[in-house]
Amino acid sequence: MSKRIYIFDTTLRDGEQSPGISLNIHEKVEIAAQLERLGVDAIEAGFPIASKGDFEAVKAIAQKVRTPVIVGLARAVKGDIERAWEALKYAAHPRIHTFIATSDIHMEYKLKMTPEEVLNRVREMVTFSKSLCPDVEFSTEDGSRTRPEFLFKVIETAIEAGANVINIPDTVGYSTPSEFGGLIKSIFENVRGIEDIILSVHCHNDLGMAVPNSLAAVQNGANQVECTINGLGERAGNAALEEIVMALRTRKDFYGCDTGVNTREIYRSSRLISHLTGVHIQPNKAITGANAFAHESGIHQHGVLSNRETYEIMTPESVGVRKSEMVLGKHSGRHAFVDKLKEMGYEHLEPAAINEAFERFKDLADRKKDVLDRDIEALINQKVTQIPEIYSLDYFHISSGNSTIATSTVQLKKGDEVIQEAACGDGPVDATFKAIDRAAGIQVNLKDYYLKAVTGGKDALGEVTVKVSKNGKVFLGRGISTDVLEASAKSYINAINKMVYETENERL
Ligand code: KIV
Ligand code: ZN
Repeated sequence: MSKRIYIFDTTLRDGEQSPGISLNIHEKVEIAAQLERLGVDAIEAGFPIASKGDFEAVKAIAQKVRTPVIVGLARAVKGDIERAWEALKYAAHPRIHTFIATSDIHMEYKLKMTPEEVLNRVREMVTFSKSLCPDVEFSTEDGSRTRPEFLFKVIETAIEAGANVINIPDTVGYSTPSEFGGLIKSIFENVRGIEDIILSVHCHNDLGMAVPNSLAAVQNGANQVECTINGLGERAGNAALEEIVMALRTRKDFYGCDTGVNTREIYRSSRLISHLTGVHIQPNKAITGANAFAHESGIHQHGVLSNRETYEIMTPESVGVRKSEMVLGKHSGRHAFVDKLKEMGYEHLEPAAINEAFERFKDLADRKKDVLDRDIEALINQKVTQIPEIYSLDYFHISSGNSTIATSTVQLKKGDEVIQEAACGDGPVDATFKAIDRAAGIQVNLKDYYLKAVTGGKDALGEVTVKVSKNGKVFLGRGISTDVLEASAKSYINAINKMVYETENERL
């Protein structure tokens, strides 16, 4: 009999703490819905006390996503726990996740508390959490650097107070696999009541060992792993969910464990999150990188053609990467388009979203001969979780060259209002962004600009991602078009729309 490992996804909490990531409520709900399709056991939806936005997102996810456990993070502080519960109480399966640091360095310098005070706080706050919610997880922050004797005492105290999940984080990514596995083993040997609860681990990737450390913990009895899609998270990130799940599945002979994850949803989840966060996936990234299943050398290609298993330890299909592509073009009708969406796994789209996607597909097919799966994926992701189009691009005209000053004229629409502005700039993109600033009457800082071709070929779709900031808050915008300047203008307007929408919503 294989052992069940629970997959606790923290993309929306620890992942969202990655530098430069900022997701709005619609994007968070969309991600949570995809995580539900992926089949994770628990979704840590946010840190409700952190901001009004975090609170509203946890509440919205608790209301909408019904199958997995929905988790809200709270320091071991009464106000945090109350706020977390206020957001979580709508969930079908709520869990309060409370934590406090237990290492000497954190207790002395950060908390300025004695070990005795920390123990008392654990007892009080776990008891309080349990009085609100039947499912309580407690984390020993910086657990891997905590004196083992004290760690055992803290865990025992939390279990006595009612915690049914205990999480041991390697908060600073300092541990090594044999050391961390040994720590988990020693917890099983030294803590009373440990066999009645779920023992979880949460590893950071500062030394590139988050996945091996998590797997070593599983080998030593841990039955929940906290992880994030694409390994997002604080600093160097967390253990990558797709790597944990596929290691357990591909090496079931070795680990003897199963998860409840539908691995065929891995690729789509990874792409959606990369798209919404603007964090691109390196080509050689395990499981989801563009080269993860590409065989370049002739010897490898020959081997794979004779028998896939010569060089492939898992199939691309098993993680949802599709090989065969039926190409669509301008003669393809709605029926073929809808069939293609189904084949690509977009069964969950609402009829209105399908209609809109079909309109965009027709528009693209007029400009691009062959519309490939990657193009369709970009069209779908482009519109997913869109906020209202407060400003839209009506037209633009650019004059540019290597010996002239670039000038751009843009016409935007805002409801029925038509606004035209022009500007000069340091190249056509800069001139266009300045003209848009003027038309919208808004000044933002451009922090990042990224252009990539969605597929190969001279008529490829260009996808532009921009990050702009205003008052310290970052907004990500995306635009796609076969014309990269149009894609640039659309991405910038998209970022401005998000900024205006969020600023107005915050005022309400
Ligand atoms: O890394 C960490 O210690 C955490 C805890 C809050 C679980 O993220
Ligand atoms: Zn963490």
